[in-house]
Amino acid sequence: MTKTQETELMEMAKRRGFIWPSFEIYGGAAGFYDFGPLGSAMKNNIIKKWRDIYVCGEGFLEIDSPTLTPHEVLKASGHVDHFTDAMVECKKCGSAFKATDLIKDKTGQDVEGLGKEKMQEVIKQDGIRCPDCAGEFGEVFDFNAMFKTAIGPGSKRVGYLRPETAQGIFIDFKRLFRHARGKLPMGVVQIGKGYRNEISPRQGMIRLREFTMAEAEVFFDPEDPKHPKFSDVAHDHLNLWLSKDQIAGNEKLTEVVAETAVDKKTICNEIMAYYLALTQRFLLGIGIPPAAIRFREQNPRQRAHYSSETWDAEILTERFGWVEVTGLAYRSDYDLVSHAKASGEDLSAFIEEKKKKVVCHVIEPSYGIDRPFYCVLEHSYTTDGKRKILKLKKDLAPVKVGVFPLLNKDGLPEKAIEVEKALKADCLAAEYDASGTVGRRYSRADEIGTPYCVTVDHQTLQDLTVTIRDRDSTKQVRVEVHELPCILKSLLRDEIPFEKAGKPI
Ligand code: GLY
Repeated sequence: MTKTQETELMEMAKRRGFIWPSFEIYGGAAGFYDFGPLGSAMKNNIIKKWRDIYVCGEGFLEIDSPTLTPHEVLKASGHVDHFTDAMVECKKCGSAFKATDLIKDKTGQDVEGLGKEKMQEVIKQDGIRCPDCAGEFGEVFDFNAMFKTAIGPGSKRVGYLRPETAQGIFIDFKRLFRHARGKLPMGVVQIGKGYRNEISPRQGMIRLREFTMAEAEVFFDPEDPKHPKFSDVAHDHLNLWLSKDQIAGNEKLTEVVAETAVDKKTICNEIMAYYLALTQRFLLGIGIPPAAIRFREQNPRQRAHYSSETWDAEILTERFGWVEVTGLAYRSDYDLVSHAKASGEDLSAFIEEKKKKVVCHVIEPSYGIDRPFYCVLEHSYTTDGKRKILKLKKDLAPVKVGVFPLLNKDGLPEKAIEVEKALKADCLAAEYDASGTVGRRYSRADEIGTPYCVTVDHQTLQDLTVTIRDRDSTKQVRVEVHELPCILKSLLRDEIPFEKAGKPI
């Protein structure tokens, strides 16, 4: 993708209703985006695809817990004390910066996890000054990234907007384990909003203060970290960017099959490797090319307070470089032990068939949905001469079928509206368009990734047939109107090749 295409894409995304800056008429607020009608539909399609894998395919239980969380939960989870970013403020203009980003921008150094003193030293030694007014910076200090509020009137009960959906799952562990009839491994998911009070979000959709997460927690017996379906993914190739290579300043990726990665202990166990492979399958499934996917091993100073091994799935983008979209963390028994201690509840699990009691360990594949949404747009956008096409996977396309009358007369619009209604009644996301020439309508449909367009013409009035046009090849076939919903559904599911869908034109 070129810079021009990138600008065109973002302009199109706003103009056509994929994404809009939030609170725009009041001047906007950094770190927030609205999903417009097409964006909401596409985002829901991504979530559906994720749910199809985790809930339908893997059989995970799904819960939905509050986003507003009492202090004691997040104190126990470690977020009150550790969910912090090192921050600096300009003494002159008051602008705030995340110290790691500021230092990276100014010196190229990665100081993540090196401690406030080291960051202070770099700022001083390199003479880093405020990018906004050239003023001097104050001391580096820890800024807690949770949004704090009060639950109920007055300020007695402190609460926070949740920084992750995971805690809702951990605190329901006893009920969930009973619901799962005491079987391990047990998988639980939650999809919903997460919040992070980013210090100075400047990267559009990549750094949001409110975002959608899809998190899965896999509870297992630490003495049995095998995955029952590991053989399904054992030969999946994974591109790993190992911590030792990052530290050596080496961009080299290590390509390995999942099975070898576990045998060689590059990845801690089968469960972790299984979910790396599943993550890759999900990303491929939403249209990210294999060469644009890698798994970055976090080094200990980069890992979250609860994790003893973390792999970040990253996608290569033109605009932002490699972007983290999924974090796969080995949370061990950190959360269950912490909540058991703080609440006084026994959060161990009795495994009937082994007649033993364990505190489960947890591996967490945690997905952001907004970032993959952006990456999908980037990777789907192509131009072919003057044609601009969003080559979305069909199941992600917000509109599945455009319906057009060839001309705005002779009863063609009425017939086309009838066709559109019938498709909608059959749950197909159809959209009627009669403005401009039919060529302009095809262009508008291509631009938003509509896989098929149906045109009603004079022949329709005689023999009740319509044309279907394929987005990617621009080929057309003619089919009978009464067969249209069934044919379109087969095409959308890739059950028939386009050429076989009707009479070629
Ligand atoms: N649960 C993963 C995260 O908060 O990043």
